[in-house]
Amino acid sequence: MIELKDVGKVYNASDGDHRALDHINLTIADGDMFGIIGESGAGKSTLVRHLNLLERPTEGRVIIDGVDITDFQGKELRELRASIGMIFQNFSLFQQRTVLQNVMFPLEIRREPKAQNAERAHELLRLVNLDDKAKRYPSELSGGQKQRVASARALANNPRYMLCDEATSALDSRTTMQVLDLLADINANLGVTMVLITHSLAVARRVCNRIAVIDSGHIVEEGTTDEVFTNPQSEVTRELLGWGSDSASDRADGGDSEGGER
Ligand SMILES: Nc1ncnc2c1ncn2[C@@H]1O[C@H](COP(=O)(O)OP(=O)(O)O)[C@@H](O)[C@H]1O
Ligand SMILES: [Mg+2]
Repeated sequence: MIELKDVGKVYNASDGDHRALDHINLTIADGDMFGIIGESGAGKSTLVRHLNLLERPTEGRVIIDGVDITDFQGKELRELRASIGMIFQNFSLFQQRTVLQNVMFPLEIRREPKAQNAERAHELLRLVNLDDKAKRYPSELSGGQKQRVASARALANNPRYMLCDEATSALDSRTTMQVLDLLADINANLGVTMVLITHSLAVARRVCNRIAVIDSGHIVEEGTTDEVFTNPQSEVTRELLGWGSDSASDRADGGDSEGGER
C-alpha cells in the first residue's frame, strides 16, 4: 500500500516559488490499477515522482507498506527504487543496447551472473511477447514494441509497484489498447500494483479500478472508476468528461443516473 499524507511540493524557480502539489492525501491499495488524471501541468508527473523519491516533498510524508520512506537515502533508497518499476511516454530505452541488453540492465546493476540474467531477460521478453526481437535495437521497433520492452525492463527486479507516466500518450489508439491490456495483464497475473498517469479518460476508464483527478496541484476528486465516470463530483472532472456545465445542471435537474458515456 502506498500512502501520501498531506504531501506538498514547492519548486524554487528563477521567477519565484511555484507550488506544484498542495495537501495531497492519497491511498493506493495493493492490487489497484490506480489512475491519476489531469490536464497538462496539473501536477501528475510531480505526484508520481514522489512515490519513488525522484522528487522529495516540501511538506508531508510518503509511506509504503507502513514504512515512512520520505527520508530514505543510500542503500534504502536504491532498494526502494528497485522495488518500483517505471515506464515513460518516451520509453527511455538505451539506444546503443539491444532489446535483450535493455531488459538485462537492471539485473546487471545487481551483479547477478550474466547467464542467469540473460535467461531472466528472455523470460520477461516472452511475457511481453517480444522474444523474437531480443537482438534488435530500439530504433528497429515500433512504439508499441518499445513500450513492451520498457515494461519488461521495469519488471526485471520483480517490483511490487509499477508507475506509468503517460505510457501510452505517444502511441496510436490501437497500440494504446494493446499496451494497456498488457499492463492490465501484469496487474492481474503478476499482482503488480499499478499507478497509471494519463490525461486521457478513455485510457483510465479501460483499465483502472480507481481514479483520482488532479487539478493545479490539488486532488479534486477520487473514487472508483464507475463512480467518477457516472457521477463526477467536480467541475474539472465534468469538463474532462466533456459534460458542459449546462448539461451538468440538466442532469442534476433530471436526477438521472444514466449520464456520461455509458
Ligand atoms: N523541476 C521543476 N522546476 C520547476 N517547476 C516544475 C518542475 N517540474 C514541474 N514543474 C511545474 O510543476 C507543475 C506541474 O508539472 P507536472 O507535474 O510535470 O505536470 P503534468 O505531469 O500534470 O503535466 C507545472 O506547472 C510545471 O511547470
Ligand atoms: Mg507529466
